[in-house]
Order: sequence, then C-alpha cells, then structure tokens
Amino acid sequence: MNTNRPPRATFHQLRTLEAVARLGSITQAARELHLTQPTVSVQIQELQSAVGVALLEPAGRGIRLTEAGRLLQQTALQMTALWRTFEDDLQALQGLERGKLRIAGVTTTEYFIARWLKQFSDQHPGIDIDLSVDNRDAVVRRLERDDTDLAVMMMPPTALALESTPFLDNPLVLIGPCGHPWATRKRLPRQLLNDQRLLMREPGSGTRLATEEWLRRHAIHPDARMTLGSNEAIKHAVAAGLGLAVVSRHALAADPAQEGLAVLPLEGFPELRTWQLVWRRDRRLPLAAAAFVRHVQAH
Ligand code: PGA
Repeated sequence: MNTNRPPRATFHQLRTLEAVARLGSITQAARELHLTQPTVSVQIQELQSAVGVALLEPAGRGIRLTEAGRLLQQTALQMTALWRTFEDDLQALQGLERGKLRIAGVTTTEYFIARWLKQFSDQHPGIDIDLSVDNRDAVVRRLERDDTDLAVMMMPPTALALESTPFLDNPLVLIGPCGHPWATRKRLPRQLLNDQRLLMREPGSGTRLATEEWLRRHAIHPDARMTLGSNEAIKHAVAAGLGLAVVSRHALAADPAQEGLAVLPLEGFPELRTWQLVWRRDRRLPLAAAAFVRHVQAH
C-alpha cells in the first residue's frame, strides 16, 4: 500500500459531513454553511465515493451517520485539532503578532464584552477576533464541538472538564416598568412575587436557569408562562407593562428609567452571580486565547 498517497477527501467535504451529521439534515447544513442544497449533496456524494462506503443513512425524516461515517467524523475532528496545533505552532514562530481569538459569550455579555476586546486588540493589533454571541446552551454546544477556544458564561456545564477564571460580577435584578409602586419601597417580602406575572427568557438561557433556581430555592411560584427570546425583548415587554422579569444588571442602562424600567427592591435580589471565562481542559489553548486569559486575569 502506498502510504504517501494524499487523502482524496477535502477539508470542505469533511466540514460539510460534520454539519450534516450534527444537524441531521442537508437543508439545515446548507443554510449554516451558506451553500446550496445541491452543493452539499454533491460534496457528500464525492466524499462517499472517495472513501468507497456509505457515510449517511436515513433516520426517520432526517439522516444520520453510518458506523463508517462516525469513524470518519472522529478522524476529521482529530485532523482539525492537529491543523489548529500547526497554526498555533506557526503563530509561536511569528510571536503574538498574528493569530486568532475565538471567543463565545452568552447574550448578556454583548453589553460589555466589546470593551474588553477593544483593550485586548489595542495591545495585540495583529490578532483577529472571532466573537459569537448566543444563549448558554448554544455556547455550551460550541465548547463541546470545539467551535470556540474560550467562552464567557455564568453557569458552566459540569459535564465538560473545564478550566475557568472569574470574569465579572453579574448581579441579577428584578425589574418592573418605570413608576411601578414597589420601586419606591424599602424592602418587599419575596412572597409578593407569587401573585405576579414573571416574563422568562427562552429555554436554553442561563438567566432563565438562574431565575428558576432562585424560584425553587425560595419556593416562589409566579405565573411564568410567557417566554421571550432575548434580553431586549424582555426589557421592552416589561416597560410595556406585560410583567416583571429577572435580568442581569449589566443589561440595563446606568439609569434604567431611561429605558422605561425600574429595579424593584424585592427580598433576595440582587442575586449575586459571576461570569466565568472558561476553556476545555483537554484542548491546548491557542496562544491568542491564552493571552486573552492573562489579559482578563490582570484586570
Ligand atoms: P443567557 O446568559 O441568559 O443569555 O444564556 C446567561 C449567562 O449570563 O450565563
């Protein structure tokens, strides 16, 4: 056997296989990769004929990997990790003048993360920054898929072996519309929340998890059936009088009245939490990411 024969599969085809396997659908993979559906199908067919076996099989309404497909997916993951090590070594050769920082933040971090990245990028102008912003579950999936080097979140998952360093305090506050009668009171018993409508973030949000934990801990049962998919939607709905909500203090203006909101002094709030900067223990941290960790630890 000629061991020098280069693989006939391309990185593009492997990336496409990964997306199709993860999403269980050609259509969704095409959307995520910004390709047409026929292009995705052709890439998969070419990959199958390159390796000579079927990689996907039908599963219900979607598709899933065959045993051979799973083997190839593992191999592709290892190849990508190896390629990243090469890029990192190359970066080490060139010093920190070049490189890429891949960082994922939960949605609330969009209110402040730019400031941190600005300071960092002023010190390291050659480093490209790739920031993605999603809710907690989506950020956790990125860590699992090795789609980001660093992540910022309040409640890191216990199922992944992670390193972490504290990033910023995150007080969670109860908000109501501006002029709410509770706003001018000194301290209100938390049982009052039992009779209120509490607007919740979507499932998968860390703010929602923390709020649910708070309610469970204090045995409070508000009417929490209304769900909104972002901090901004929550704030607008609260300002419009649709209900109360728990949000990060960082998601509010210095003077919440400017946004039509008031922080309510209910007993048990603010709920003090901390954002952590986390990364996978079983991955080598790229130089740019390691530099960002040091930057955060130094401030
Ligand atoms: P999220 O953020 O509600 O946008 O998921 C949670 C967090 O601060 O960790």
